[in-house]
Amino acid sequence: MIVLLGISGGIAAYKAPEIVRAFQRRTYQVACALTPDAARFVSPMVLRTLTGGQVLDDLFAAEETGIGHITFADRADVMVVAPATAQTIARLAHGFADEPVSLSFLAATCPRIIFPAMNSNMWQQAPVQQNVALLRERGHTVIDPDSGELACGWTGPGRLPDPERIVREVAALLAGSGRLSGRRVLITAGPTREFIDPVRFLSNPSTGKMGFALAEAARDAGAQVVLVHGPVTMSPPDGVEAVAVVSAEDMSAAVERRILEDEPPDVFIGAAAVADYTPADRSPSKLKKDQPLDAIPLQRTPDILATVSASGRVPVCIGFAAETNDVIDNAREKLSRKGLALVIANQVGTADAGFAHDHNEVHLVSKDSVVSLPRASKADLARTIISTIADLVDNVA
Ligand code: PMT
Repeated sequence: MIVLLGISGGIAAYKAPEIVRAFQRRTYQVACALTPDAARFVSPMVLRTLTGGQVLDDLFAAEETGIGHITFADRADVMVVAPATAQTIARLAHGFADEPVSLSFLAATCPRIIFPAMNSNMWQQAPVQQNVALLRERGHTVIDPDSGELACGWTGPGRLPDPERIVREVAALLAGSGRLSGRRVLITAGPTREFIDPVRFLSNPSTGKMGFALAEAARDAGAQVVLVHGPVTMSPPDGVEAVAVVSAEDMSAAVERRILEDEPPDVFIGAAAVADYTPADRSPSKLKKDQPLDAIPLQRTPDILATVSASGRVPVCIGFAAETNDVIDNAREKLSRKGLALVIANQVGTADAGFAHDHNEVHLVSKDSVVSLPRASKADLARTIISTIADLVDNVA
């Protein structure tokens, strides 16, 4: 997912490097376009360093081949103008294209989202408000500035929202503007640990990355998210209720509690790699090395996904299928056996996808279709998956 950040020349431009970093923390790639005035407030060199050289600040630079400026706009999945001064808002509303930000804005076909920042009186003037209205009429998103103390010494509307909020607004726009707002989504993520004795356990290589990315994407789409996760090293995303568990039995109990609540979830997504077997007896003390242990008797764990689906309390149940072979056929079998709306099938045991990788390649398997998504970051895949799930929720409603 590529964000083109258009920076115009107001004092809030000094926050641009923080905005770039906030997007990068969410695994977005960022390119920047600067107006000539913006380049006086924030160093293009700093932005070049942060973005790996992806900065457009001079339409007539020696390296400009004549189409480079179009390429920036063309590659972007979303263009964010922050801060947008009164001058830049006027240029965008009236189709100017004589500096990098307005030119990129005009050349872009992706969604565009504008964050005005200026003195309160300027913000409230009719020309600015009319230009904002014009941009909104054309389908662009304009986020009203925050109120508070301004750099000019005034207090009132005109502040640029903080970088994290900018990222959240953009993520929500990309996720379909709150398509899951008011919905409850319960997600499992990560591995489980099945202890043999107090110091040894059976587990798998799941890191929780896929499930955590889904939790973020569901939250960004407006859902109220509960994330039940096994032992992982990541911190839970902000704004998501996280429930940490260890074993398959713990995970099953935590999920069951949520399913039986007065208001059960609208969607369940089983992204966890739940152990299928657990030791039949757990030794209360550490087994000694010289103690004979030829076999560890195992018993099946509860199938959490199948139980949720069979309960009939969750309208949209989604499973994953982690397969080493016959990926689609096995996913179809899981879809029908567990009565699911969708199975997200992925190949595991490969060098560059599945467990622990930042990227994955998945197939969305439903009763009537198989949609194969090309290899992408787990964050990008999660956004696409959540948008597909929002369609399923709409169809159920
Ligand atoms: O966490 P990462 O490192 O990012 O890796 C992501 C992933 C590979 C773990 C993820 O993409 C994935 O495939 N998750 C499901 C792994 C799995 O257990 O697949 P399965 O085919 O064995 O199980 C099928 C479904 O039943 C899954 O939705 C699983 O959560 C669920 N299940 C399985 C067993 C069980 N006892 N209870 C369950 O709910």
